[in-house]
Amino acid sequence: MITCEHITKSYNGRPAVRGITTRVERGEFVYLTGPSGAGKSTFLRLLYRAELPDSGVIIVNGVDLAQLRRRDVAEFRRHLGVVFQDFKLLRRRTVAENVTFVLSLLNFPEREQQRRAYLVLKQMGLQHRMHAYPDELSGGEQQRVAIARALVLQPDLILADEPSGNLDPERSHELLELLKTINYQGTTVVVATHDRGLIEAHPARTLFLDHGSVVADAWVTTT
Ligand SMILES: Nc1ncnc2c1ncn2[C@@H]1O[C@H](COP(=O)(O)OP(=O)(O)OP(=O)(O)O)[C@@H](O)[C@H]1O
Ligand SMILES: [Mg+2]
Repeated sequence: MITCEHITKSYNGRPAVRGITTRVERGEFVYLTGPSGAGKSTFLRLLYRAELPDSGVIIVNGVDLAQLRRRDVAEFRRHLGVVFQDFKLLRRRTVAENVTFVLSLLNFPEREQQRRAYLVLKQMGLQHRMHAYPDELSGGEQQRVAIARALVLQPDLILADEPSGNLDPERSHELLELLKTINYQGTTVVVATHDRGLIEAHPARTLFLDHGSVVADAWVTTT
């Protein structure tokens, strides 16, 4: 699903990602962890082609990102679900509209938009809040809307940056259960988190980043 070879990315001459080489197979669940500034978000941005690396090769879902033409980026992203740490919900649109927005951009028929929105919101336990606005929801509910939105295109790959960053511990655990369920259903999942306790509670393969490099790649268990 993901192949990276010697990828580097610097900002103003300071490396944020330096020489990452790794593979993630289809159907895997992988954490990305490490201290603040280690390069987790930068690495994720490179994977959904928000940025291009200075050097190295990135292949995601069979697409060589360096070869991807600008006009094909939208089609590439159709197969990805991205969950941002700060949700990035549209404040003036309802929960349902936030979820159908991407479908409307892609000209899905209205009825299909409604059907899909209902299904993913039900999966998140939010079907009763479809007509609420984001500001009327709790942080955890907003987080689940952001996930519903990432799932609505039935992506092959989910990239989530600190998805539990704004949630209390109980909600964080629920969220991880949810991502694990989605993973069992076949979606590849990559989660950036600095929350070691969360990883230990829901163990999986973990890439440890430090100063832009992968310093360990291991199955984390409680010690
Ligand atoms: N757009 C940018 N412009 C300049 N420097 C950046 C930019 N984005 C990231 N950096 C720098 O790159 C390095 C890695 O940042 P990144 O955000 O990837 O770390 P992170 O592991 O996600 O940290 P955190 O846990 O705090 O989210 C940091 O030194 C950061 O200051
Ligand atoms: Mg980050």
